Amino acid sequence: MFVSKNLAVNQQGHLTIGGVDTIDLANEYGTPLYVVDEDLVRENCRLFKDSIDRYYGGRGLVCYASKAFCCKEIYRVMEDEQIGVDVVSIGEIYTALAAGFPAEKMCFHGNNKTAGELYYALENGVGRIIVDNLNELERLNALAAEQGKRPNILLRVKPGIDAHTHSFIRTGQIDSKFGFAIETGEALEAAKEASAMEHVNLVGAHCHIGSQIFDIDPFVLAAEVMMGYIAAVKKETGVELTDLNLGGGFGIKYTDEDHPVPYDRYMEQVSAKVKEEAARLGLKVPFILLEPGRSIIGPAGITLYTVGARKEIPDIRTYLSIDGGMTDNPRYALYQSKYDVVLANKANQPKDDIITLAGKCCESGDLIGEGLKIQRGDAGDIVAVLATGAYNYAMSSNYNRVTKPAVVFVRNGQSRLVVKRETLEDLVRNDL
Ligand code: LLP
Repeated sequence: MFVSKNLAVNQQGHLTIGGVDTIDLANEYGTPLYVVDEDLVRENCRLFKDSIDRYYGGRGLVCYASKAFCCKEIYRVMEDEQIGVDVVSIGEIYTALAAGFPAEKMCFHGNNKTAGELYYALENGVGRIIVDNLNELERLNALAAEQGKRPNILLRVKPGIDAHTHSFIRTGQIDSKFGFAIETGEALEAAKEASAMEHVNLVGAHCHIGSQIFDIDPFVLAAEVMMGYIAAVKKETGVELTDLNLGGGFGIKYTDEDHPVPYDRYMEQVSAKVKEEAARLGLKVPFILLEPGRSIIGPAGITLYTVGARKEIPDIRTYLSIDGGMTDNPRYALYQSKYDVVLANKANQPKDDIITLAGKCCESGDLIGEGLKIQRGDAGDIVAVLATGAYNYAMSSNYNRVTKPAVVFVRNGQSRLVVKRETLEDLVRNDL
């Protein structure tokens, strides 16, 4: 009935998440409110971890892409699930460390890591640094020399696969700000330079072919291209890369139009390809890393809002205005992303209304969605926007000096606050 399996309707006709009544949550914590089902997050972590165990003999590491949703508590959950994390800024590293997450299980990404960020990563012993460009390589080598360190590095490679659409194409992705292209030879050149450097330890290659991908084939092709790259690096430099990081990007169900494949089918096919290519090319089977973000956290989250106004414009449309909007979920404004919505206090009623869900910012484009099917609602009703766990809180802002909502985790039928709602004092904290 719902896009995520952790959602249901109770006897009062209220939407529940992880068995907890969302109306109780709205009453207890206020709205707007992000709610994350921790049990489902953990289950999703295990899906990926188990698939590496089953199909790849456990010789890999799942690294949760924490850009999808970052706060101290999520790093504690990931540490408890014994997986790694992908971090993309000093801010994410700092948050993870503050939560007690071990630096050696972090993969540090970014196309323009500053010297300060690299210094911090080295100082704290970040396990793998994914080097994006030659400037960074030189910067890192020099900083590592200064600190007497020799970090493990992977090179970010563009495998030339565009998987952003439902079909995918093999070439044409040279124009990306991320990484070294294989087809121009720069990826091989980078490996030559890196392997000759004294203060970095070149251990692997990384690629990430896109996000919200439903097809398995582009991932399999990426694995094949990357194994070819590892073989070329070995031939050229004598160094056999032992880490193959295939990034994230696994699609989730936002609406009934989305049909994600079971994640273990992905690993089944990718593992087979990696092993086949290793045998064919005379390489060792590499240690594999995956970086799912959205697929771990996305389906586990919802956002609750209170409707403040209903505005019917005859023959045009009906707006329901909520107490949040693009400040807590900018994805419709940015990408016209589609979401499923429910009136959480009338979840047992038929969805016989069609509305535009509008935020409260002074901006016409501040919408969560248009043409949305929902139960008939008015001021005072609670709207739940589903599958908002990924890239919502993470991309929230204070535009219009709107405070950021609180985040609540539910587990075993209980709720707990993990991020406090911002206060007005928070808004002026840095103002002089
Ligand atoms: N690894 C790397 C290197 C990445 O750049 C990303 C996402 C991931 C892993 C995780 O991808 P996922 O499994 O979450 O698809 N703000 C956009 C998504 C941007 C994704 C950026 N990179 C959105 O709201 O859809």
